[in-house]
Amino acid sequence: MHIGVDYYPEHWPRERWETDARMMAEAGFNIVRLAEFAWVLLEPSEGQFDFDWLDDALAVLARHGIEAILGTPTAAMPGWVARKYPETLAMQKDGTRITWGARKNNCFSSGTFRLLSERITRAMAEHYRDTPNVIGWQTDNEFGHPVCYCDSCRAEFQAWLRRKYGTLEALNATWGTHFWGHVFGTWDEITIPDDPNRHNPSACLDWQRFYSWLNVRFQDDQIRILRAACPNHFITHNFMGLFHELDYYELAKDLDFVSWDNYPVWGKPAIPYNAAAAADVMRGLKKRNFWIMEQTAGPGGATEYGRNPRPGEIRKIAFQQVAHGADGMIWFRWRTCTTGREQYWHGLLGHDGKGLRRYQEAAQTASDLHKIAAALQGTTVRAPVAIIYDYDSIWALRIQPGYAGNRFHADLERYYQALLRAGVNVDMIRPIDDLSAYRAVLAPDLYILPDGMARALSNYVQGGGVLLADSRTGVKTETNLCHERTLPGLLSDALGVTIEEYESLGDPTGPQGFSYRIIGREALTGEFTGIRTAEWARATTAQPLATYEEWHMRPYVAASRNQFGEGYGYFVGTVAQEERFYDLLIADLLRHAGVTAPLAPPPGVEVSVREGDGKTLLFLLNHTDTAQRVRVPRGKVELLSGETTGDTWTLDRYGVAVIRWV
Ligand code: GAL
Ligand code: ZN
Repeated sequence: MHIGVDYYPEHWPRERWETDARMMAEAGFNIVRLAEFAWVLLEPSEGQFDFDWLDDALAVLARHGIEAILGTPTAAMPGWVARKYPETLAMQKDGTRITWGARKNNCFSSGTFRLLSERITRAMAEHYRDTPNVIGWQTDNEFGHPVCYCDSCRAEFQAWLRRKYGTLEALNATWGTHFWGHVFGTWDEITIPDDPNRHNPSACLDWQRFYSWLNVRFQDDQIRILRAACPNHFITHNFMGLFHELDYYELAKDLDFVSWDNYPVWGKPAIPYNAAAAADVMRGLKKRNFWIMEQTAGPGGATEYGRNPRPGEIRKIAFQQVAHGADGMIWFRWRTCTTGREQYWHGLLGHDGKGLRRYQEAAQTASDLHKIAAALQGTTVRAPVAIIYDYDSIWALRIQPGYAGNRFHADLERYYQALLRAGVNVDMIRPIDDLSAYRAVLAPDLYILPDGMARALSNYVQGGGVLLADSRTGVKTETNLCHERTLPGLLSDALGVTIEEYESLGDPTGPQGFSYRIIGREALTGEFTGIRTAEWARATTAQPLATYEEWHMRPYVAASRNQFGEGYGYFVGTVAQEERFYDLLIADLLRHAGVTAPLAPPPGVEVSVREGDGKTLLFLLNHTDTAQRVRVPRGKVELLSGETTGDTWTLDRYGVAVIRWV
């Protein structure tokens, strides 16, 4: 298993390199990522390359058995690039260019920048193709910034639209430009539509798609060069989990595997649900395991720093990712830097360079991971439940949230957390994926719903699947026009409801916010509070699971279950304030889907299963700072301790266990 750190030899005197490499090897590390911001050190002036220092660093690392991933260094352009070619700097909305001096400040449509990026990529690739301890590449660093408003980007946008729509008539029709007299007579009349408060929503969505495509194309330029020069190396990129400016499915398409940067330690200790959800998104991009390219090593921050991971947390955070499919673990960063913007972004070592607690905990983690590496081989998460994770809907909702505070990820979280509390693994999938692999599919905020997708979901339910949909389902076509149908449109039969009207209940914490009382029945028995949104949804064939108490809302369901064909369609028409609402709903849904969790974890304990190759591994993670007793399968081996399980297993605070179940 590849375990190591993000290392910046260029930040330290050469005399220190040997000590660093030795300490890494002593910690059980065997990989580093290098050079992703070192462009100016590798190409000090245009076309003049200097690889000597990196060669030497690689040689020191090699002597200690440490391999390397090299970053193409295009995320930090040298000063000479900005000086010689000012057009490579991204233009801001006000028409001025970003001042050089940070990073991620380039225009992605600049031909000059693309050529410069290709040149350094090619030079590095050719230089390192045969270096024995170089095994792979990371493209750039955390694609996603900045948005550029220059003329070249605008012209590229126009050309992209031309390729997409063919004729202006088609574009005018799909965007509905007859509204406010926005009909285009020529392609170059098209401006950059990035302000949802003023611009056409269809145009805004295409601009976001274009921006994503622009980043993907930039990466493609590098991938082409790396594949040709280094056929034996892998290529990956460090994604950012739930970040959603780019269509990550597209960005991942031509990579060998996905990596991501995980920083879940902020503010007061909490269960890192988002780190688990993000891991599932990352695994879903290519439907295969992933690496952690930057893992939390200490307090993070720029001008101010945050919370220090408690003893045990560094290890637990790493294991949470492994439990969700991580096959490589790289901590950011090795040693805390004494200079520059990230002096307070703490590594495993402090400024003093000593191997203290955080280093020792990472070394312990490395030793644990090496111990279970053989068992992990050939295993991944095979979830019985999927959640649809669709960038089109995410983007279109950001353009028009509809009800106040509607964010896809907030909606996702409610269901995801309930599933995690129930101990059930989740796959994040594209709406076009094969649904038949899942007992249940949740589609929160599935706002953009092309007819083909609606039919597939409906057929899925008819054939025995269980589907959950909620407010704002199926409102839009794929070009962000409103469907001319009573909602939820083509899903009406599967869900057994018709949404006659709808309204926003405002911000529940603001002076204008209000709520509705909800009375649950059957599996949802209890009283709840509906906030933020209310669909005035009438059950046609669905069985109400919750209704409203207010006089004018009595005809409508807040939650319902509909038997349709062999399956069930669940509908939720509001946001419930109480967590319990989601726990009960998910329990009922899992029951109807025939899904049982491997075990019932106590609060604060997460369970995740990796399987494959005839093996089943049960991961237990204690996210709390008190010991937790968990009922587990008896007579199995816990791989980290080598002990055999009884009826229960006790996890220390922040403890982890890996039980070989099968
Ligand atoms: C990541 C980035 C790293 C480093 C780290 C800590 O987002 O990839 O280069 O900046 O954050 O700030
Ligand atoms: Zn530009």
